[in-house]
Amino acid sequence: MKKVIETLRLLHGKEKVKVLFVCLGNICRSPAAEGVFRNIVEENNDADNWEIDSAGTGRYHIGDLPDNRMRIHARRRGLELTHRCRQVCYDDFKTFDIIIPMDASNEANLRRLALTDGDEAKIVPIARFVDMTFRYDHIPDPYYEGAEGFELVLDLLQNGCANLYHQITNK
Ligand code: 4NP
Repeated sequence: MKKVIETLRLLHGKEKVKVLFVCLGNICRSPAAEGVFRNIVEENNDADNWEIDSAGTGRYHIGDLPDNRMRIHARRRGLELTHRCRQVCYDDFKTFDIIIPMDASNEANLRRLALTDGDEAKIVPIARFVDMTFRYDHIPDPYYEGAEGFELVLDLLQNGCANLYHQITNK
């Protein structure tokens, strides 16, 4: 917990904050998180101060647009998801200030990739920012779920990303 607070504190007032969201496939949860967070930043007229991206720990869908179901559910909330799937790599620890896994498996994979304590300190799970419910300590993978799974992902991400934005900016 102390490490997370320190990571967020270091980002306060930084000219450009670079955020990477990570899930398994990079076609459902993390591109949705990227779209949700981008929208929050734009609504706050703050886009110039952010670099926002997403990536997957797996390599099944490299180059693909997000899953159609995710795109449809996001579009209903005014979000266009246009990210192209890519796999996370060690260089992401050099590029990004904060790396945000969707679940414990993504987090464990990122920790295996990290080389230094500084790399490890950049990994902060999205659940750390979700306070609309205590039912979930991760963002559930919607890939094999129905429509309600995708809606749940978006609800949790809109709540978590709003809190992430406020905690980094102090706004
Ligand atoms: P995501 O969902 O990690 O939220 O993008 C998944 C997408 C695809 C697969 C697994 C999870 N897959 O096994 O292909």
